[in-house]
Amino acid sequence: MMSRTEKLWAKQDQHQGDRLRLFSAVATEVDASTVLYPGSFVDVAPSFVFPSVVYVDNDRRAEQFFADDGGVEEIIAANTIDQRARSVTFIPADYQTDLELADQSFDLLISLYAGFISEHCSRYLRVGGSLLVNSSHGDVAMASIDPQFRLVAVVNATGGTYRVQTSALDTYLVPKKPQSITAETLHRLGRGIAYTKSPFAYIFRRLG
Ligand SMILES: C[S@@+](CC[C@H](N)C(=O)[O-])C[C@H]1O[C@@H](n2cnc3c(N)ncnc32)[C@H](O)[C@@H]1O
Repeated sequence: MMSRTEKLWAKQDQHQGDRLRLFSAVATEVDASTVLYPGSFVDVAPSFVFPSVVYVDNDRRAEQFFADDGGVEEIIAANTIDQRARSVTFIPADYQTDLELADQSFDLLISLYAGFISEHCSRYLRVGGSLLVNSSHGDVAMASIDPQFRLVAVVNATGGTYRVQTSALDTYLVPKKPQSITAETLHRLGRGIAYTKSPFAYIFRRLG
């Protein structure tokens, strides 16, 4: 019989290996040892690729999932692309609060479908580090108006394959309708801006 941890992972990994393929593609562009993933729910796939990951979520089910160290370790061991020792930490918290992590201590910050993470957690990302972000909750638009971030790549998805592209970046982040984008309008909208091109995700570099 499947444990609760296995069931939660099976549900998360419905498109089998999808997130492994995503994070493997990201690792071709981003050299990261330390990763922060606020709003992770039970998406433990970054640990298949990156050696040290801190997950943050305020959902009880995520807390229960990560509390099962052995179950999580098994999932990682079954999927990891190398057998290096892994560090997996879970913080049961609202990422808008102080996470008691050192400023600038992470190489990669992940923001997928979980709100305005760049606004609240960029302080933990080192200068020169990367923000992987998708547009669904408006965080790409938020990062695009934040002067500390510069777009350095997009991640395109075709038929379950992810490819990182670093060229023609000026053809991305072009709104379909001309509009002024401010933090206030994004908070009010609570969702992303419709752009002329829709890659799966974007990679920004923290400049300062
Ligand atoms: C739609 S799920 C996305 C999960 C995962 N990032 C993925 O792509 O599969 C959004 C997750 O963000 C978490 N979340 C949303 N707001 C949060 C907050 N302020 N602090 C911590 N977690 C939050 C929710 O609890 C939920 O687990």
